[in-house]
Amino acid sequence: MDIVSVSFAAYLVAGLLFILALAGLSKHESARVGNMFGIAGMAIALLATIALAFDGDPSGLGIGLMIGAIVIGALIGLQRAKVVEMTGMPELIALLHSFVGAAAVLVGWNAYLHAEYKGDGSAQVQQLKALDMLGIHSAEVFIGVFVGAVTLTGSVVAYLKLSAKMKSAPLVLPGKNLINLGSLVLFVALTVWFVVDPQLWLIIVVTVLALALGWHLVASIGGGDMPVVVSMLNSYSGWAAAASGFLLGNNLLIITGALVGSSGAFLSYVMCKAMNRSFISVIAGGFGIEAGPAEDKDYGEHREVTADGVAEMLNGASSVIITPGYGMAVAQAQYGVAQLTSKLREKGVEVRFGIHPVAGRLPGHMNVLLAEAKVPYDVVLEMDEINEDFSDTDVVLVIGANDTVNPAASEDPTSPIAGMPVLTVWESKNVVVFKRSMASGYAGVQNPLFFRENSAMLFGDAKDRVEDILRAL
Ligand code: TAP
Repeated sequence: MDIVSVSFAAYLVAGLLFILALAGLSKHESARVGNMFGIAGMAIALLATIALAFDGDPSGLGIGLMIGAIVIGALIGLQRAKVVEMTGMPELIALLHSFVGAAAVLVGWNAYLHAEYKGDGSAQVQQLKALDMLGIHSAEVFIGVFVGAVTLTGSVVAYLKLSAKMKSAPLVLPGKNLINLGSLVLFVALTVWFVVDPQLWLIIVVTVLALALGWHLVASIGGGDMPVVVSMLNSYSGWAAAASGFLLGNNLLIITGALVGSSGAFLSYVMCKAMNRSFISVIAGGFGIEAGPAEDKDYGEHREVTADGVAEMLNGASSVIITPGYGMAVAQAQYGVAQLTSKLREKGVEVRFGIHPVAGRLPGHMNVLLAEAKVPYDVVLEMDEINEDFSDTDVVLVIGANDTVNPAASEDPTSPIAGMPVLTVWESKNVVVFKRSMASGYAGVQNPLFFRENSAMLFGDAKDRVEDILRAL
């Protein structure tokens, strides 16, 4: 049996499984099955790659190195996945993207050193010349190194910002848009030069240029746009992998890279809409982001309520909506919230959840936590599905959410988050806000919701307060 053909067929099957995985992951109900498809696809891909490596190098050295790398990688990966907090996922993902970028740079350099660098002395160059494909190979090398290097440093900066090892405020260099645009124009010019005359210094220059551009692009994006940046880097890492796929003649890498690249770009677009940021402005590195005026407004007094008071309120309610946010994740309050939900449902109260697309710190953060605590999927609704129902709701429990329920976004055009779609919780009869203090949320903006007449603050750790309410009920 021809191992090469079988492996290529296996790659196609793996590609199909990855597409099925993405389709499955688009809905709560099918996410588990989607994950299984992804795991199966990856297992097939690894087996096919090992078989190919063995076929190309029967001495076993290549395969030994590869298995060694897989084992070391798997052990580190398992350990990291075990210890990472859910709230630390974005920075871990950013760090992992940087590895994809680094791999693409290395693959590009390797391809160059094996072909163009050796000139006519390389059998590959002679083959490429005979097929009139040398120019295409050079373009693949150059583009792969560029995209990979931008992803590498961009992801490292995103990791540093998300893990608070670097200031999250945007870096504003004079003429920063000109720097970005100029770098892109220079890259196009250098690519043409390299295709015509693939010299070593050109690939060194593009590597340095792309490393600097990746750093600058992400450094000039502010903290509020970081979720979009992570998914954008996800997209870049996909394109970097696709570029490596072209260089290595690996169809699966091309398919997977394109899937990751396009789904990451689409997710970025969806998140931009949810945060009212323009996609182009985020990609261009914070172009057009203006900080709002400093706040010195007096919003008046806030009201406080006790857990017993909330239990009483819930006893008299017939409809309740819970809008969780980052604080629920920090407090790990989802299990108590799930118990509260089933208790109220047993009493005949209609309980639903309203999930903002960027609640928490990563896409789907709240959905994952609620699924983990076994909250039924059918009561967990997206913002657009539930926003019209707040006015018919007796009690809204805002559990550790802040920016995503801020009325200033829709009512105050001078607010830094003006225009961001939010959950209109203030339209309900009563709002209870669970948080530990009057501090602002991620965007650093004061929330007038806390001072509304129908709002009351329930101070303390969200998990403790939910448990107090459960006891009182
Ligand atoms: P945030 O605006 O971040 O507010 C969370 C609130 O939870 C804080 O005001 C905090 O107040 C409270 N809190 C923290 N720990 C708590 C605890 N143990 N018990 C009770 N409350 C606690 O949350 P949000 O409404 O979910 O909004 C998300 C924000 O993050 C948005 O601005 C979004 O753009 C941004 N962001 C989103 C993502 C994605 S993709 N989801 C990624 C990065 C950034 P106290 O300190 O007073 O307790």
